[in-house]
Amino acid sequence: MNILGIDTSCDDTSAAVVSDGYHVLSNAVNSQIKVHHPYGGVVPELASREHIRNIVPVVQEALSAAGLKVRDLHGIAVTVGPGLIGSLLVGLYYAKGFAYVNHIPMIGVNHLEGHILSIFLEEKPPRFPFIALTVSGGHTSLYHVKDFGNYTLLGQTLDDAAGEAFDKVAKILDLGYPGGAVMERLSQTGQGDKIPFPRAYLSPESLDFSFSGLKTSVALYVSKWREEEEGKGAVKVADIAASFQEAVIDVLVHKFMMASDKTGVASIVLAGGVACNKRLRERLRDIASERGVEVYYPRPAYCTDNGAMIAASGYHRMIHGERASLSMDVRSKFPIQGYLSITPQNT
Ligand code: KG4
Ligand code: ZN
Repeated sequence: MNILGIDTSCDDTSAAVVSDGYHVLSNAVNSQIKVHHPYGGVVPELASREHIRNIVPVVQEALSAAGLKVRDLHGIAVTVGPGLIGSLLVGLYYAKGFAYVNHIPMIGVNHLEGHILSIFLEEKPPRFPFIALTVSGGHTSLYHVKDFGNYTLLGQTLDDAAGEAFDKVAKILDLGYPGGAVMERLSQTGQGDKIPFPRAYLSPESLDFSFSGLKTSVALYVSKWREEEEGKGAVKVADIAASFQEAVIDVLVHKFMMASDKTGVASIVLAGGVACNKRLRERLRDIASERGVEVYYPRPAYCTDNGAMIAASGYHRMIHGERASLSMDVRSKFPIQGYLSITPQNT
């Protein structure tokens, strides 16, 4: 069963074709980094316009790379939230038109469910149950995943997402946008224990996260450092980046392990853009192997936003009988729902 998946939730226009929820036949992404780079962050109005410009060629690219025609598709899955409303609307209305004209079923997908299920695009996915940490520019959430469509939220960020903190600190350090990958590269030449930035563990039992205090602490440190220390060379920009990165990783790894202990689940899945971070992967692998926990991460192309994870999620919803109606709307905030009973067909 071939599903076309579309994601336009933020600043990437993505389309992919996935067969039977597991086999990626194509995965096309048009990144808008160049458009937003001068502004140091995503400009929602510009993102919507770029999606409008790119959606048709990106879908065409996904189909031709898969070697398929529209008539070979059995469904179209599209992200309906969470995300930027103007961006989501482009993908959803394109999908509605596509489904209606070509008489194929449409399925609405939660972007975070897409990130969780991205691990099933890899050859050796985990068995259920597992703990998933989706850590990206917009989200930092821990889930107990018992099956396809069965997700319990264990904790989430109370303020900034971890990727957002990487991006904001990169901006403070004049490293450009997006900041995660640049910060990681710079950190390799810095000393991670140079500056003791705060770690927000919250209450001892809490599986929630908070990164805004850390970001403020880095901002205060940097302004003082620029006034007093920068020229002396005792602390380099790379030391600040590395110390920040260790503070984020300490908290992510700690809460991940706590969730595994609390639930007694010994498989964990790291997903979302920040999951590209090699230092995070390494730290997680080390602590997990000490504790007999198995760690899974998708390849970087499936960690950052992509249509393949949406197609995979849509496939599982579809085989459970779910269909979206043409009146479906986008949602900026959207808790992941279990599978719904059969809803009206869109044809
Ligand atoms: O999943 P994603 O592509 O989009 C959202 O759903 O937000 O994640 C993008 C985020 C950005 O904040 C980016 O800075 C971060 O992932 N990121 C990284 C790395 N690569 C991307 N953060 C830390 N280290 C990286 N190597
Ligand atoms: Zn994402």
